[in-house]
Amino acid sequence: MYETIETAKDDAVLVVTLNRPDALNALNAQLMAELSDALKQAEGDNAVGAIVITGSEKAFAAGADIKEMASGEFATMYLEDKVSSGFDQINRCRKPIIAAVAGYALGGGCELAMACDFILAADTAKFGQPEITIGAIPGAGGTQRLARSVGKAKAMELCLTGRMMAADEAERCGLVSRVVPAADLNSEAIETAKKIAGFSRPVTLMVKEAVNRAFETSLQEGLLFERRSFHAVFALEDQAEGMAAFVEKRKPAFKNK
Ligand code: HXC
Repeated sequence: MYETIETAKDDAVLVVTLNRPDALNALNAQLMAELSDALKQAEGDNAVGAIVITGSEKAFAAGADIKEMASGEFATMYLEDKVSSGFDQINRCRKPIIAAVAGYALGGGCELAMACDFILAADTAKFGQPEITIGAIPGAGGTQRLARSVGKAKAMELCLTGRMMAADEAERCGLVSRVVPAADLNSEAIETAKKIAGFSRPVTLMVKEAVNRAFETSLQEGLLFERRSFHAVFALEDQAEGMAAFVEKRKPAFKNK
């Protein structure tokens, strides 16, 4: 089993808890390999409809593991950067992933949260890209996803100064979808994931694909992709069931086909 993460199923939700408490969940090669493996399993498991990634009360993750990275050289980092390559599996995952963030989400931790589909934050959450303070730059989306998410001014300021941003500021600038009291974070994230997992699976995946298109293509191409996907849902039994259930004033029974 895993040593640096814990996994648990709650109905159709896989909950992955980062678990390196002595290092504030710093992302080392082992943790990223285990996280990638858990996501790969979830991707192939029909019983899983959505995923929650969370950390501890003190830290979602305080960044890539600086102690592991400190003696890195260009060639080994370029050829064997296991932390960055661990992000590839997250990017490939077609099922919705919620980041439930309490405490520090710094550097690679902030990047990990941003690689998820959306972030629910506890009121204790602190986000930042402090790489500049240790002579480095973000390496897994900190300059790219953050800029797309909060705009140039704030992304530039956060990356150039390394300052941390509290949950309320993160909500104001659109980095997180919602802020909840720390005590409610995990239950809120799991309930949200269960709600998503209860909808038609193919429709859910289409929504994720379509929203992601907004960041990868022109508006016209994105709108066309969305419209074709909308047309495609009419090939699904779940579309017929969902609309019939509305008309008949009952709950839909989706079959994921
Ligand atoms: C390795 C880390 C760590 C990290 C904390 N620890 N962050 N170990 N890598 N990123 C370890 C500390 O060394 C310490 O271990 C223990 O966790 C507790 O941390 P403290 O510093 O004692 O806690 P505190 O005083 O509460 O300060 C919390 C903190 C601080 C503000 C979050 O730990 C901090 O600044 N961490 C580094 C944040 C950072 O620079 N992140 C970016 C990393 S670069 P010991 O053994 O001493 O008790 C990065 C690049 C990503 O992420 C590239 C792409 C993937």
